[in-house]
Amino acid sequence: MDHRFYITTPIYYVNDVPHIGHAYTTIAADVLARYHRLRGREVFFLTGVDEHGQKVQQAAAKAGIDPQAYCDKLAPQFERLWKPERLNISNDAFIRTTDKQHQELVQRYLRQLFERELIYPAQYTGWYCTFDERFWTEKDVVDGLCPDCKRPVEQLSERNYFFKMGQYQDRLITHIKKNPDFILPTSRRNEVLGFLEFQKLGDLSISRPKSRLSWGIELPFDPDYVTYVWFDALVNYISALEYLPPDKPAGNQFWPADLHLVGKDILTTHAVYWSTILMALSLDLPKTIFAHGWWTVDGEKMSKSRGNVVDPNAMVDRFGTDAFRYFLLREVPFGQDGDFSEAAMVGRINSDLANGLGNLLSRTLTLIERFSGGIVPTVSLAASSEEKNSPDEMLTVAGLEVDHHTHEDLKSFAFSRSLEVVWNLIQAADQYLEKNAPWTLAKDPSKKDQLLTILYRGADTLRLLSLHIYPFMPKTAEEMVRQLGLNIDFLKPFEKNTASDFRWGWFPSGTKIQKGNPLFPRIEPNKPVGAKPVSDSSAPAAPTTQPTATAATPAAAPQAQAQITIEEFQKIQLKTAKVLTAERVPRSEKLIKLQVDLGAEQRQIVAGIGKKYEPEQLLGRTIVIVANLKPAKLMGIESQ
Ligand code: ME8
Ligand code: MG
Repeated sequence: MDHRFYITTPIYYVNDVPHIGHAYTTIAADVLARYHRLRGREVFFLTGVDEHGQKVQQAAAKAGIDPQAYCDKLAPQFERLWKPERLNISNDAFIRTTDKQHQELVQRYLRQLFERELIYPAQYTGWYCTFDERFWTEKDVVDGLCPDCKRPVEQLSERNYFFKMGQYQDRLITHIKKNPDFILPTSRRNEVLGFLEFQKLGDLSISRPKSRLSWGIELPFDPDYVTYVWFDALVNYISALEYLPPDKPAGNQFWPADLHLVGKDILTTHAVYWSTILMALSLDLPKTIFAHGWWTVDGEKMSKSRGNVVDPNAMVDRFGTDAFRYFLLREVPFGQDGDFSEAAMVGRINSDLANGLGNLLSRTLTLIERFSGGIVPTVSLAASSEEKNSPDEMLTVAGLEVDHHTHEDLKSFAFSRSLEVVWNLIQAADQYLEKNAPWTLAKDPSKKDQLLTILYRGADTLRLLSLHIYPFMPKTAEEMVRQLGLNIDFLKPFEKNTASDFRWGWFPSGTKIQKGNPLFPRIEPNKPVGAKPVSDSSAPAAPTTQPTATAATPAAAPQAQAQITIEEFQKIQLKTAKVLTAERVPRSEKLIKLQVDLGAEQRQIVAGIGKKYEPEQLLGRTIVIVANLKPAKLMGIESQ
């Protein structure tokens, strides 16, 4: 493995309000940056803002201020969002395309290409939309209208400078074919290849006349023009290395970048424009460009006009930094599109974080307090049972799996799967405690060694978990370590034979634990609509109760606190049943009509669970029913 690791996010348009999409790319990059630092690599992690171009010029004009002043006002929105108290992003540098050194390098590159005759002037005639101030191709224009604003377009002839992109088409195809990891995921790679193989790659206009755009970097060979904003923006990945790395080796030692992380909408600009620009400059291509998927919000496209833009700051305020980071990477396999909803997030926080991780930590520490005076005991691990399928063996295996998987999964950007495997270890640890029942062993003095071994292994598991969780949830890992009484500096690469060793058995015996507050308090959802069932398969430590389909009687008053006698209880016949079909009762928010299979018979039940469950969540599940409840008609439908 190469010792250095250079990772980038896109540079975000400075006049955008930061949203979940920006947060997503940057958090994913942060996880990788932290992971590689922890494993001892020298990392350079770059992000920043893209400040030139039409949109910024227009927005500044509208605000009545000079574009530079406008950018200076907006750039901190992003810088602040990455700070430890917000999304906790560990970027090593933050580039602004208005930085003098960046502008100089863009000009140097333009001059080089111009001198090598890879940039040439030409007259271009095409359909132009004056309102959007941009050209459209013949096939974009329908009925003479701009596809964007639907205003009439006009023929405009303009002189511009073009980069000879087209001549690199074959070389680029060959490069993509020879380097299977150059564009990922593979489905995206095939899309780019398809596009390159079936149409002729044209040249790229890299200038804009100052008469219609002045907010840009001036062409060094023609002061009547500024540089097209994408040429300017892409060069950031190299210009940053010239002046931003603090006490790192000279920047050029980081090129080629190991990874450009981008969203799928900007894959072509990276895979085609940037690659051919680099070829023309005789520079190496980045090793990997990974294009992630797109988030919708409650099933809808996110947009300012819909007013459903998710503000990452609000998410941090309401749910906390780490819960938000965890959710984004756990919920959707990286590369695929996903849907964001607060209900889904609350479900994950309660099941995976509060019941899962948080519960394991507080439970284990409580046991150590009660049965070992708050001190992690000294034990001989050789004594623990390694019988096949014993809880001990399962714990050991789950631990080894995590280590193996973290490498493999993070190499292939499978954040979600990596977390799943970590949560398997949490589940194994829960079962380990459950099966070995230290609270029972404590009653028998002859079982003392066994008891202490269990406590030690519980603590050791949490230590290992903290190391694996750190890249995703750095503050949580630090708090775990603090409560465990350990001293691990995650910013220093891990060393063998210390508490930061990734193998079993390196928890320093005799450590005094410091039990603290729960890591993740349970969140009461604002409204239960769409909340996830607690028995979700990813919720190892959640109570494994089945949803109970009590047939709702219209008159049933909520007597939640009323108690019943054992005689009354004995009259109730509970049976398990499998849900065959489930559909909502028309015009009812609450009622779901179920066909269920009790083994010996099938029944129709109308259950008042529609605010907690979607019908499709119930299909195929085993539920508990009250089998001897008097049949009733609900909204005209028979409930048995
Ligand atoms: O494109 N879901 O900047 P940008 C997921 N300045 N990701 C999303 C998203 C969504 N709904 N919406 C946006 C630019 N993104 C250029 C980049 S790089 C040399 C220049 C992601 O502010 C998107 O895919 O529009 C991309 O990675 C980033 O946010 C776009 O930021
Ligand atoms: Mg965009």
